[in-house]
Amino acid sequence: MTSASDAATASPLLTLNDGRAIPQLGFGVYKTPNDEVEDAIACAFEAGYRHIDTAKLYDNEEGVGRAVRHSGLARSDVFVTTKVWNDDHGREKTRRAFEESLERLGLDYVDLYLIHWPMPMNGLAVETWEELIALREEGLATSIGVANFPAHRIDELTAATGVAPVLNQIELNPYFAQAELREANRERGVLSQAWAPLHRAKGLFDEPIIRDIAEHRGATPAQVVLAWHLALGTIAIPKSVTPSRIRENFAALDVHLTPEDLEAIATLDRGEAGRTGFDPETMVRGAGYKG
Ligand SMILES: NC(=O)c1ccc[n+]([C@@H]2O[C@H](COP(=O)([O-])OP(=O)(O)OC[C@H]3O[C@@H](n4cnc5c(N)ncnc54)[C@H](OP(=O)(O)O)[C@@H]3O)[C@@H](O)[C@H]2O)c1
Repeated sequence: MTSASDAATASPLLTLNDGRAIPQLGFGVYKTPNDEVEDAIACAFEAGYRHIDTAKLYDNEEGVGRAVRHSGLARSDVFVTTKVWNDDHGREKTRRAFEESLERLGLDYVDLYLIHWPMPMNGLAVETWEELIALREEGLATSIGVANFPAHRIDELTAATGVAPVLNQIELNPYFAQAELREANRERGVLSQAWAPLHRAKGLFDEPIIRDIAEHRGATPAQVVLAWHLALGTIAIPKSVTPSRIRENFAALDVHLTPEDLEAIATLDRGEAGRTGFDPETMVRGAGYKG
């Protein structure tokens, strides 16, 4: 049997604005129960993933930590992200939330700590960001970033502290392609990371455009969607608890799309109507939400 350390292929690495490297194809664990996440991650490591995305909200940091510690991989070979939740904003609460996350993970540091949502109604994003900067300076979070931040909210953090996030994790897939925000991130030296990269497998794989490209490239619809992310230069963190899909998604690294494929996929963009998650300014569900 192949061990995690023998994985034949590796994800490309992207360079963050703090000089660190991040595997472009990672593994998400939202809604993966704590008692299933260790097996899912063991399968992911065996397939070749080295980048895991969790959050306090997902209630599975213990299992994520066990998976990392039991993997047989060097800690430095695994990239672990977690996030500060919305009711933990502010310097002291953020510090406590981080310490509790680290304790649950059973790790000495995380590779990336993110502000999960900007929560402008609370007005504590800058304070929270200042605490993330302190955590980075202490070596407890190697890199720091944000999720779901509109560009002007990134500018508020940078103007107040002089430190830009390394990345902005945003809802992003062919139905909600976010070209404007991706460009705004790029202009600020902030990488775009896609959450719900597969649109949670709700409809996208039945699109004739995706199916047609899949047939021509000898790939599956999910692989075509992930190859689209990789071609855009975004970081994708597909979630699955199904071993065959975990492997299938990682093998998207071998699928290469043509400029014509990318143009065809671009026609699927629904703009704001494609948003399924919260609008970060109001925390009201997007029009694309179907439960
Ligand atoms: N920052 C944020 O606010 C935020 C919000 C949401 C998510 N995230 C992060 O982003 C990660 C990914 O997003 P997501 O989990 O919401 O959605 P996703 O990765 O787009 O989709 C996951 C769904 O797709 C299914 N799936 C996966 N691979 C498949 C394949 N090859 N064929 C068919 N179905 C497949 C999975 O089913 P099975 O598991 O049953 O195989 C699961 O139901 C999360 O896990 C989390 O780490 C962040």
